[in-house]
Amino acid sequence: MNFASDNWAGATPEVMAALGRANDGFAPAYGNDALTQRVTARFAALFEREVEVWFTATGTASNSLGLAALSRPGGLVLCSSEAHITTDEWGATEFQSGGMKLIALPQVAGKLQPQDVVDALGRYPAAGRFGTPVALSLTNATELGTVYRPADIAALTAPARAAGLAVHLDGARFGNAVVATGASPADLTWRSGVDLMSFGGTKNGCWAAEAIVVFAPDRMRDLAARRQRAGQTFSKARFVAAQFEAYLDDGNWLRWARHANAMAERLRAGLRASNRARLGWESEANEVFAVLPGTSVAAIRAAGGSLHEWPADSLPVGQRPEAGETLVRLVTSWASSADEVGRLLSML
Ligand SMILES: Cc1ncc(COP(=O)(O)O)c(C=O)c1O
Repeated sequence: MNFASDNWAGATPEVMAALGRANDGFAPAYGNDALTQRVTARFAALFEREVEVWFTATGTASNSLGLAALSRPGGLVLCSSEAHITTDEWGATEFQSGGMKLIALPQVAGKLQPQDVVDALGRYPAAGRFGTPVALSLTNATELGTVYRPADIAALTAPARAAGLAVHLDGARFGNAVVATGASPADLTWRSGVDLMSFGGTKNGCWAAEAIVVFAPDRMRDLAARRQRAGQTFSKARFVAAQFEAYLDDGNWLRWARHANAMAERLRAGLRASNRARLGWESEANEVFAVLPGTSVAAIRAAGGSLHEWPADSLPVGQRPEAGETLVRLVTSWASSADEVGRLLSML
């Protein structure tokens, strides 16, 4: 019963086999190998346009270096109060950008609302006394398992772009968002006003394959230098490329994400039907949030199960756990099984 994180899952057999194949002989270093060139072309096909692809090792590196390349002194980045960049990354964006400030905005189940972006732009006018907004950062699928559809993204990016901001997308779980929305990668990104994204592979079947995908290179400054100085320029880039090639081959990434989302939906269905537990909110991707009796959480852990407790203030006042209850996050992955979902539900 592994529901702590999709990061706890291993890499898929396809990815491991690709790594083995890439290990054959010598190849030019630092991304000048044929495999890396091929994968860059695959990204262009996936997004239906030319893109720049910059491999990194972690989502934090992608987010912070991508945003840093947009930076200017006194720069502000608008994001949701649940955004990984503000809650979990230990100031990486602030550090890599030389001190940009993240402005955390209200969210509903992890999703920013257009009016809140408009209000923030009013509160933080360009070159006003609080700094200058330079970027809006969205996450899809969100940290709370919900998803933005292309129209949602366009409604958020329109006011930001009109005010001159660039738009960054944290796609640590982009595959889950593509599957949940049924929208194309292009529609979920540049066609809806996204300038650059952190494209995640690790959570969905790779072991360390992340990339900054840039749709608007003219907005980016010094990304090569920033990546080099952060120690994120891979000499043996072919091994990251190999993971991405296996990821994108035959729609593997969508198959893996579809499985993870389906396992999450199974969990949600069981939780909706339970009289011992309740969903914190409806999500659509591979993260499920539920209020469980503390005794159930203890029993699941005692049986070897893993899950994370989640801050109750992610829930509106009035829906927060009562005494003896806990809000938990349950994450499914390509490696989750219907059997372990069934076992967890039966323990409730
Ligand atoms: C939404 C989101 N973005 C970024 C990351 C960063 O991942 P990493 O741990 O690879 O830096 C995570 C990891 O949990 C995440 O959930």
